Amino acid sequence: MSSDALSKVLERIDADFDNSLDRLFDLLRIPSISTDPAHAGDCRQAAEWLAKELTGIGIPSSVRETNGHPMVIGHRTGEGKPGPHVLFYGHYDVQPVDPLDLWHTEPFAPRVDTRPDGTKVIVARGSADDKGQLMTFVEAARAWISEAGDLPIDVSIMLEGEEESGSPSLRPFLDANKDELSLDLALVCDTGMWDAETPAVTTMLRGLVGEEIVITAADRDLHSGMYGGLARNPIHILVDILAGLHDEDGRVTVPNFYDGVIEMPDDVMAMWETLGFTTEGFLGEIGLKLPAGEEGRTPLEKIWTRPTCEINGVSGGYQGAGFKTVIASKASAKVSFRLVGNQNPEKIREAFRAYVRSKVPEDCSVEFHEHGGSPALRLDFNSPSLSSARAALEAEWGKPAATIGCGGSIPIVGDFKNRLNMDSLLVGFGLDDDQVHSPNEKYNMKSFKSGIRSWARILAELAK
Ligand code: BES
Ligand code: ZN
Repeated sequence: MSSDALSKVLERIDADFDNSLDRLFDLLRIPSISTDPAHAGDCRQAAEWLAKELTGIGIPSSVRETNGHPMVIGHRTGEGKPGPHVLFYGHYDVQPVDPLDLWHTEPFAPRVDTRPDGTKVIVARGSADDKGQLMTFVEAARAWISEAGDLPIDVSIMLEGEEESGSPSLRPFLDANKDELSLDLALVCDTGMWDAETPAVTTMLRGLVGEEIVITAADRDLHSGMYGGLARNPIHILVDILAGLHDEDGRVTVPNFYDGVIEMPDDVMAMWETLGFTTEGFLGEIGLKLPAGEEGRTPLEKIWTRPTCEINGVSGGYQGAGFKTVIASKASAKVSFRLVGNQNPEKIREAFRAYVRSKVPEDCSVEFHEHGGSPALRLDFNSPSLSSARAALEAEWGKPAATIGCGGSIPIVGDFKNRLNMDSLLVGFGLDDDQVHSPNEKYNMKSFKSGIRSWARILAELAK
């Protein structure tokens, strides 16, 4: 493969870009919300659309069944190609769209918006997380095959439909297809850049434990005047439990929670110092200024390398218009923990449940519902594939790539390592202000276009 081939592929990407955008819009129109059973058919439709698209560009692919939403798997391999055989991973499922009234336009009617500073963005649920990102790779592969006749290295593709709901079907699927999927390197496009001009490779992901608790007190809703004062209120129990999860210094109180947490080495902390991150800048974007969280930690530590506990939802009692003097029978909350280092998801789940049980009076009850668990992950900062990615990203963006952490979780990356013994390369083009999981999610047009070009270059670089 010559550098001439790469130049032609890049030209092809530029020339075909409007069509790339049309194809992304087709995918964005499918409301593939994995957590909502009402959208199971849409998840399947997104999988079918992708399998057809991949097969059409020359990566034979099929929709493969799991216990939940299907996977899309494809392969394009050839004799004696150089470089690693990579497995590209992305997810076609998206988060729910609520609260719908905060969207300026329909979440599944994608559109291009021009911001006051002239920046063009693609607005739709899933534009950044993760349909826009996975399509950067698909479009790069398309350009390679159509312009150069082939991909520079062997490529397999795996697109998941349950990432946003904790990947419940993933592990059995990986185990059942171990030989097919244990390749040399996974390429994962579900992370972000450092800022709109600076590309990044991500080397750390936090893990996750998701738990829902439902507390039941009386066997029916009660008049709060007739019963209040003598009958127990489950919302009081719940808020007491939730308030007790952190101490005055912002540390999580669940017993043994910090077992396995690792302090960052000085050289990594020093490298991050050079990135120029400020609390004012980060929080200012979202209308805040005062840092929350653990005392005595830098802001990047707080979002990348320290474990947290967040309450993601609370419900109970009267939520309608007006007012109702009621003591509800039930109260519930959804709680998640982000994990780092070697923290053990199952031990933390058990410790949390024990803490909750200890706070529930004996005439009341608590139910737990598990919502996923995955350990944190740290990748080798100096692997050859990371160097290839850095070289390709610098060539495309004209700036060295930053090496960053990520506060979010991508459970499969741990499973690739632990179940398939496969390392991952995490490159993505999302930005902090993409509003992922929120109303009005967007993906910068530049992320989409230069993201496609970046993957075209990374494929060439990995072949060297
Ligand atoms: N793409 C995100 C992970 C991410 C978040 C990367 C922020 C970069 C910045 C991913 O789709 C995601 O949201 N994962 C969930 C996983 C969970 C539902 C198991 C998360 O982190 O909450
Ligand atoms: Zn994602």
